[in-house]
Amino acid sequence: MARKINKIAVLTSGGDAPGMNAAIRAVVRKALGDGMKVVGIEKGYQGLLNEEMFDMDARSVADSLQRGGTILRTARSAEFAEEAGKQKAARILKAHGIDGVVVIGGDGSYKGALGLSKFDVPVVCLPGTIDLDIACTDYTIGFDTAINTAMDAIDKVRDTSSSHERCSLIEVMGRNAGYIALWCGVASGAEDILLPEKYDFNEQEIINHIIESRKIGKTHHLVVNAEGIGHSTSMARRIEAATGMETRATILGYMQRGGAPTCKDRFYASIMGAYAADLFSQGKVNRVIGHLDGEFKDFDIDEALAMKKDIPDYYYQVAKALSRSIIHDRVSK
Ligand code: F6P
Repeated sequence: MARKINKIAVLTSGGDAPGMNAAIRAVVRKALGDGMKVVGIEKGYQGLLNEEMFDMDARSVADSLQRGGTILRTARSAEFAEEAGKQKAARILKAHGIDGVVVIGGDGSYKGALGLSKFDVPVVCLPGTIDLDIACTDYTIGFDTAINTAMDAIDKVRDTSSSHERCSLIEVMGRNAGYIALWCGVASGAEDILLPEKYDFNEQEIINHIIESRKIGKTHHLVVNAEGIGHSTSMARRIEAATGMETRATILGYMQRGGAPTCKDRFYASIMGAYAADLFSQGKVNRVIGHLDGEFKDFDIDEALAMKKDIPDYYYQVAKALSRSIIHDRVSK
């Protein structure tokens, strides 16, 4: 028989992501509307261990939807990573009469949630990360805002790069995944896009590409590099030495995690937050919510963590084909 849930908590964990507030707001308002009580836990799992929590009402989430960051704040917790930490957290939740927790974060946060569920704490997870690196979903809260922020910054670097006839290496976030680099690279017309999933560390290929491009009159060269590859500053130095083209590295960094969420992030995060509250109402727990094949779905948390994800090969082939202006010119001549 499905378990009756009367009181849930919500927390955000790991790196913040624009749209987390829309998800929190939806969890709170949908759960309250369905007759549950809601507690907000501040600063992720660490805040839970420190019992930093408060009762939420519909007004607790007022004026938050359009704001970046997370109103509940977030943290990474070494104490919670230990088995004893999870057991302590489960005890605290029981003492506060909390029947289940909505966890908004990346797959590290999912592992924490899975650990909590082993101590009989029902959980529901939402994909909150700018990295898009969660296998059971083709959408994660914050990705859309982050790529638009990064794209805008890359366009700006491109302007100055072009005026100075320089090569620019722009490093974007993504931890070990190349989704931000892929989307921004294609969207900004980068000449080279370096993805951890595909890059073979053949720097000579980039150097040859620059030399060839210059021969056909290209005045600038844009390389979008993923954080998972890194070393942008030293790579820029080597490229400049080998090509004679002035080369600068720009590491976009944390600006990519901030700012007002896009409409898509607000909308999808709202649906996912409401969906989490619905799962608790139905007593369907230990689930991960995703958006796959055009639909919002939920998966068993173990199953979701075992799923694998990669850059679709076709996307990669297209990215390469579009960035190689030399090949196009040769074909059209
Ligand atoms: O997961 C989001 C992310 O911004 C990654 O792209 C990046 O590798 C990481 O978080 C940085 O984390 P921190 O805030 O701990 O430096």
